[in-house]
Amino acid sequence: MSKSHDHTKSANKNRKKQKRNRKKNMQTTWHLHVVSFIGFLSLLRLLYPLLKWFITRFVLTDPRRLKRYGSWAMVTGATDGIGRAFAHELAKHGLNLILVSRNPSKLASVSDDFRQEFPQIKIKIIPFDFSSEGGYGAIEEGIKGLEVGILINNVGITYPRAMFFHEVDQLTWTKIIRVNLEATTWVTRSLIGPMLHRRRGAIINISSGAAVVVPSHPLYAIYAATKAYVDKLSRSLHVEYKHFGIHVQCQVPLYVATRMVSEVADIDKPSFFVPSPEVYAKAAVEQIGIGSRCSPFWAHSLQWFLAGLLPKNLLDTWRLSIGLRRRNLS
Ligand SMILES: NC(=O)c1ccc[n+]([C@@H]2O[C@H](COP(=O)([O-])OP(=O)(O)OC[C@H]3O[C@@H](n4cnc5c(N)ncnc54)[C@H](OP(=O)(O)O)[C@@H]3O)[C@@H](O)[C@H]2O)c1
Repeated sequence: MSKSHDHTKSANKNRKKQKRNRKKNMQTTWHLHVVSFIGFLSLLRLLYPLLKWFITRFVLTDPRRLKRYGSWAMVTGATDGIGRAFAHELAKHGLNLILVSRNPSKLASVSDDFRQEFPQIKIKIIPFDFSSEGGYGAIEEGIKGLEVGILINNVGITYPRAMFFHEVDQLTWTKIIRVNLEATTWVTRSLIGPMLHRRRGAIINISSGAAVVVPSHPLYAIYAATKAYVDKLSRSLHVEYKHFGIHVQCQVPLYVATRMVSEVADIDKPSFFVPSPEVYAKAAVEQIGIGSRCSPFWAHSLQWFLAGLLPKNLLDTWRLSIGLRRRNLS
């Protein structure tokens, strides 16, 4: 009797233990599912930019779309660096060019070079100094009757050397604001009307990693601030006008081996992270009409991604040390 009683007792105990274990197992499985789901979401979050990057670089880049915007492209600051290379790349795609820059003889020489290389395209030059106080009548007059489908708002200047804010003289900062900020606004304003009328167009505004990739750009503060304006203006216009067939995009170059960079950053030749203007422009033209903001050259995108992983304070300290070093060198 007592034996069978003991047996029942131990069977009950076993059943309870099994029940407890089953409950524990179920809890463990449930936790595992939650952890795996979170892991999956994190992986997706990491992979999404990579996937997006891949699609925009290799799937959506049909060059035929450029001419659909219109037969003419206008480039500001077209006699040197990124602007000249942009114009050259657009000419390769068969677009007629309107080149705008301040120096008439440089403009004539660039357009002669292009005419020889691309005899099939039309080229119009508009000498214009964006740092002057005059109105934009010359530009509005120059584009009359032309179907300008693509506008590259490229012109931009910076300090002659690294400087604290209080050291920048009024003429210098006034010119930076006029060229980087007012020119982009005015030229966009002049061209967007006809684009709106035709319901198509692409406006590419050149900002800078100085404003978008790093949280601060000490000793080049006004330059960086004007480029932040370009970024915000572009994003807002992108949202305002995409329903009208006008694609506004902000492009964010990091260092490109141009005259500007050789003056401010002592970089004289291209390297892994610093493309030539031609290499940069090829990637930049491929991205026209794809997304609202991009850094077209792949190694710049990589730098942007890596910078995003670093604490902002660290980037601030790094940029300040670079600014101070450049100020002391100059
Ligand atoms: N290079 C980079 O690493 C880098 C990085 C980020 C962003 N960006 C941006 O990219 C754009 C192009 O830079 P870049 O390095 O190619 O510059 P760049 O080599 O100095 O060329 C600037 C072009 O703009 C013209 N220009 C300058 N001031 C002008 C004015 N007041 N009126 C009319 N035209 C004027 C120049 O004409 P002249 O030939 O007559 O001087 C030249 O054609 C700028 O907006 C810059 O902020 C450049």
